[in-house]
Amino acid sequence: MSWQERTKEKMLHLKLPTDPRWVGIAQMQIEDILVDHAYCEQKAASSCISLILRFHDLEQLVDTLTPIVAEEWGHFERVMEQLRKRNLKFKEPRKDEYVAKLNQFVKKGGNRKQQLTEVLLLNALIEARSCERFKLLSKQIQDQELQRFYYELMISEAGHYVTFIELAKHYQDESLVNQRWQEWLEYEAQVLKNMEIRGDRMH
Ligand SMILES: [Fe+2]
Ligand SMILES: [Fe+2]
Repeated sequence: MSWQERTKEKMLHLKLPTDPRWVGIAQMQIEDILVDHAYCEQKAASSCISLILRFHDLEQLVDTLTPIVAEEWGHFERVMEQLRKRNLKFKEPRKDEYVAKLNQFVKKGGNRKQQLTEVLLLNALIEARSCERFKLLSKQIQDQELQRFYYELMISEAGHYVTFIELAKHYQDESLVNQRWQEWLEYEAQVLKNMEIRGDRMH
């Protein structure tokens, strides 16, 4: 059985597991990884704020995402703490090729419900992939404090992944959500397959 098959079951329905060489490369560039990670948390918080502003009339969405903004910002603070205690520098953000590619798959137009589904699934996917990567870091990184750190974040992002999927199903027909989710998963696998493995990026 290949490593792809072995890990498939454990990865939140993602269609392509992360290349097993990634953790090794990433831990050699831990400053870049932590900086990139900090921006991932910032973007997660910003994205929830945008959803709240855009869909302010959807009570359940607003009430569900409001505490997640605080959680994501808490993650940002914790990543910064990890940088500081290692005397590593917070640096400028770099182009997020992965998220830019995913954004291209967001269907333009459609009614508001369809637009909401798209954004929720996009967010769910980024959470799922982050969760998979955190899991790898928690199991394989040599730094024991970072092992625990990434284990805790993995649990939290898995919860967010479920939340985004549930919200999508709350506002849109379940079978439509499931169908579109499969398309997103296929697309994400292709995106990842065509990207070079980099040790300075979380994705
Ligand atoms: Fe987070
Ligand atoms: Fe998250």
